[in-house]
Amino acid sequence: MRATFLPFHVPDVGDEEIRSVVETIRSGWLTSGPQVKTFEEEFAKSIGARYAIAVNSGTAALHLALDAVEIKDGDEVLVPTMTFAATAEVVHYLKARPVLVDCRADTFNIAPDQIEKAITPKTRAIIPVHFGGQPCEMDRILEIAGTHHLKVVEDAAHVLPARYRGKFVGTIGDITCFSFYVTKPITTGEGGMISTENEGYADRMRMMSLHGISRDPWRRHTAEGSWYYEILHPGYKYNLTDIAAAIGIQQLKKCDRFWQVRQRYANLYSLGFRDLPEVTVPHVSEEVQHSWHLYVIQLDLQRLRITRSEFIELLKKENIGTSVHFIPLHLHPFYRQTYGYRPEDFPTATRIFERTISLHLYPKMTETDVRDVIETVRRIVAQYRR
Ligand SMILES: Cc1ncc(COP(=O)(O)O)c(C=O)c1O
Repeated sequence: MRATFLPFHVPDVGDEEIRSVVETIRSGWLTSGPQVKTFEEEFAKSIGARYAIAVNSGTAALHLALDAVEIKDGDEVLVPTMTFAATAEVVHYLKARPVLVDCRADTFNIAPDQIEKAITPKTRAIIPVHFGGQPCEMDRILEIAGTHHLKVVEDAAHVLPARYRGKFVGTIGDITCFSFYVTKPITTGEGGMISTENEGYADRMRMMSLHGISRDPWRRHTAEGSWYYEILHPGYKYNLTDIAAAIGIQQLKKCDRFWQVRQRYANLYSLGFRDLPEVTVPHVSEEVQHSWHLYVIQLDLQRLRITRSEFIELLKKENIGTSVHFIPLHLHPFYRQTYGYRPEDFPTATRIFERTISLHLYPKMTETDVRDVIETVRRIVAQYRR
């Protein structure tokens, strides 16, 4: 057993970020300013996107994206049930209805054949979530969207860097939303980024991210700025601070290294479990470059004498703190009560939820930590196999 508790996540933030934050604070410019501008430019360059807009969360990014594609009262937006609260709650912000869609059994990504079944005359958009950092089947999704005149807003909260058929996620759908929450591939503590190739969307999102005001407000306070501004729409307060962007700029430089470590650890896990019929390791599609934000195993409960929850408790007793991604939305009280969803309406997600465990996967952990997790999972399987 491990001598110390292995947390599910620890961010890798080093001296470069600390120096950058201190310099920013000393500069006297704390809110959105030159650091945000640099972060946006560097981010856009890193994925080859035309526009990138920094915001203060991935949730804010999704909200602004749906506003930009003009989701409104009475519209329906297709959302995978296998996701976090944010993906669907933003649909409610705009008084539209999230229509949940089941996932694929192998990648846990939204199932394209289920998307087609969920489309009605009110459907306006799809939000594919790249589960765990593995891109969805974007060609099929774009084809369905084209046929039915739907917008595609990608939830890339788990992504950086990922590619689908050679193209970077962030340059594929109409708008893509990233998260820099502390557990994500790169972090600013809290933060997000929106990318798009569409100038009209970019202008709208930038304006709405700061009160719907007609010009970059931070320019008002510079030597070449003017005091005058106009409110064009009632917007939001979603801008990223320069302090957070200072962290983001440094994290972005480390993004590839972080990804390589996560990839190496994912391979170690898959090798470590390859002879265990009780454990199914993640399936990776040949069309993608996976970000490896999450490493999710599936337990074959027929072969074990314990449930997934008991498995997690046993891991915890061994100082291994795991997690579950996700409790599908249709199982939560709000979605059950508001829309009458039942577990059997989304059989794949319901089944997957009962048997998955997310294992640790972050660059701050060591190879010994990875081996500890493998050993402990193997020991519990050996002890409780039927
Ligand atoms: C799939 C998914 N979408 C959106 C979000 C929201 O991101 P944020 O926490 O930055 O608002 C999360 C994050 O935690 C997420 O996992």
